[in-house]
Amino acid sequence: MKKIKIANGEISASEIALGCMRIADLSNNEAASLIQTALDEGINFFDHADIYGGGKSEEVFAKAINMCSGVRENLIIQTKCGIRQGFYDFSKEHILKSVDESLKRLNIEYLDILLLHRPDTLMEPEEVAEAFTTLHSSGKVRYFGVSNQNPMQIELLNKYLNNKLIIDQMQFSITNSGMIDSGLNVNMKVDSSIDRDGSILEYCRLNNITIQAWSPFQFGFFEGVFLGNDKFPELNQKIDEIASAKGVTNTAIAIAWILRHPAKIQPIVGTTNTKRLKDICKASQIQLTRQEWYEIYQAAGNKLP
Ligand SMILES: NC(=O)c1ccc[n+]([C@@H]2O[C@H](COP(=O)([O-])OP(=O)(O)OC[C@H]3O[C@@H](n4cnc5c(N)ncnc54)[C@H](OP(=O)(O)O)[C@@H]3O)[C@@H](O)[C@H]2O)c1
Repeated sequence: MKKIKIANGEISASEIALGCMRIADLSNNEAASLIQTALDEGINFFDHADIYGGGKSEEVFAKAINMCSGVRENLIIQTKCGIRQGFYDFSKEHILKSVDESLKRLNIEYLDILLLHRPDTLMEPEEVAEAFTTLHSSGKVRYFGVSNQNPMQIELLNKYLNNKLIIDQMQFSITNSGMIDSGLNVNMKVDSSIDRDGSILEYCRLNNITIQAWSPFQFGFFEGVFLGNDKFPELNQKIDEIASAKGVTNTAIAIAWILRHPAKIQPIVGTTNTKRLKDICKASQIQLTRQEWYEIYQAAGNKLP
């Protein structure tokens, strides 16, 4: 598994991360075997959130891995806060409470990275800055980032933060490629030219912020998996053709497509299946050509100007 540098080189992370949103209902043995497979494949980065499984995902993870200081040191653990039942909450009180509860459930002393999960329009950046300073100086959180935020929202926060944001986690996949579409269609009178994210891809590259791709196999907003799906015949035909030529599965190609982008986007894969996870990790051993990358992009229904 190849590594990428995060936080201006201070963190060396596996280029593929394991997302733990779906592990809440796994048995201890199933979770242990999933995490061990990830580690065996070279994955050292694990993504959580306070709300996954209502907090149970963090607990299941800690128990399955027999969390203790020796184990913890070899892992990069990221969690998120800010989504509550029916509203978003970036208040200092909520951020501090959420982190304490995540640390307890994960059975660890510190988080490597804390992300703000979804923009809270009632956010007061000075208050977030106070919360982050408290968390950093107490040693509870090493680095901070956001999720689903645009460049100006990041700028607004960074104006007040002592510790600048290092991650933006966004939905991104072959079938959710808005971050790329608008840049390919600048100044065109077509829908794909609409910039829905404020040029976040270019902004993050300019500012050394790592983009993480959530739900890399889903189309729509959790509508299902595009691989092997009759709704995407041309895309699946193209992916299968390239997979077979390279001797890997379609899952590896879907992830290799994300990894091929020079922005060094880190896919967060959410499988709970060990065989699938091993297949996915083969993506790190292959490199799509420029032509293959563009062929897959167009097979998904995207048009080049
Ligand atoms: N920041 C945010 O707002 C946000 C939102 C959503 C998710 N996330 C993060 O992103 C991670 C990944 O999200 P996700 O689980 O939706 O992503 P995903 O990797 O796109 O989807 C995984 C799900 O698809 C299923 N699946 C079925 N067929 C598959 C195939 N051929 N290939 C791959 N998966 C297949 C998996 O089932 P099996 O388990 O049986 O393989 C699993 O339930 C989450 O764990 C979380 O950490 C973040």
